[in-house]
Amino acid sequence: MPDYNELKRKFIEIYGGDESDIRVFTSPGRVNMIGEHTDYNGGFVFPAAIMQSSTLLVRKTKGDKIRLAATDLNDRPVIDISNIEECRSLKWGNYQAGVAYVMQNAGYTIVPCDILYHDEVPLGAGLSSSAAIEVVMALMLATFSNEANDKKNEIDMTEIAKLSQKAENIFCGVSCGIMDQFASAMGREGHAIFLDCKDLSYKYVPLDMKGYKIVIGNTKKKRSLAESKYNERCEECAKALEQLRQIKPEATCLRDFAVEEFEENKLLIKDDVCRMRAEHVIYECDRVLKSVEALTSGDLEEFGKLMTGSHISLRDLYEVTGMHLDTMVEESLKIEGCIGSRMTGAGFGGCTVSIVKDDVLDTFISQVKEKYTSRTGITPEFYISEPSDGGREIKL
Ligand code: GLA
Repeated sequence: MPDYNELKRKFIEIYGGDESDIRVFTSPGRVNMIGEHTDYNGGFVFPAAIMQSSTLLVRKTKGDKIRLAATDLNDRPVIDISNIEECRSLKWGNYQAGVAYVMQNAGYTIVPCDILYHDEVPLGAGLSSSAAIEVVMALMLATFSNEANDKKNEIDMTEIAKLSQKAENIFCGVSCGIMDQFASAMGREGHAIFLDCKDLSYKYVPLDMKGYKIVIGNTKKKRSLAESKYNERCEECAKALEQLRQIKPEATCLRDFAVEEFEENKLLIKDDVCRMRAEHVIYECDRVLKSVEALTSGDLEEFGKLMTGSHISLRDLYEVTGMHLDTMVEESLKIEGCIGSRMTGAGFGGCTVSIVKDDVLDTFISQVKEKYTSRTGITPEFYISEPSDGGREIKL
């Protein structure tokens, strides 16, 4: 948890004034337990919010500007509320501007303010640092908009997730699905969220770890959604869907095809690569359903196996893993007491998530670290993760 007094001191150092009118909002990153590259195919995902978050200190001001600062950057971008669009090219600040832009177009009153960000979610590590930044911004702007219009402060966090996703889609040019923003907005302590991305219905499932821990392994191989092949994968899935729809014109997404249906008709997808992508998505959706079943009946071992199966599919069929993620998963699974391991997030670098028995945790971390470092030349980092709450205002 950040030191809020220290952050307030920093805020005052940058913007002056005193602490009486500073407010604090926070929103976490996420780790997806299983269900990867399924969200933009209308499928199932199973993420949990993590402890690391994006914290925002803010003070309302007069005028028509939003001033931005961050504890770990020297950039001080300014968003002109009457011309937000000009911020598209900002290096740091475009996520925040994107959210303000989308919300202004959706009818929210954008209140001028001074902001200090403090980001604990490691950047570019596949733990949704961008969603955390967007969701905390959207939550703050929605709260201030309600206050400006003397409305009751009832915030629909699903709406906050949707606005944040839209900002990333239309302002930042990444065709990401809804998973990250949803997990950041809706996380709940001790639970993962079983989310149906077709209609956004969801259920909290206790992550009852009974003698095990969720360990996140950061390969330290940076990834970037926009630069990676993310948008290409979306297009390949769209092509596969188009061809499969010959047998089911009412289908709107790959998730609409059950495993058996896919097996009977997969040769309708002419292109081998697109067929592989669809196979991953359809089987991955099935793995999410089986995971929720396994966890509900207390079968953690089965859940671990499904996680490892997910990694293999992402490696061989969806081709989004790469040497660093594969090496870490391989080394993780060599440790007795690690019952499942996979990449998490978009892939092409970033993090893995593993289920590790409590009493081998130290061995796990030291051995995987040593082996991974000697094979890749990069020193990884590990975090023991506890599922956490989603976006909220912190009343100090
Ligand atoms: C990124 C995107 C998500 C999702 C994952 C892959 O995190 O932002 O919407 O598609 O990749 O599962």
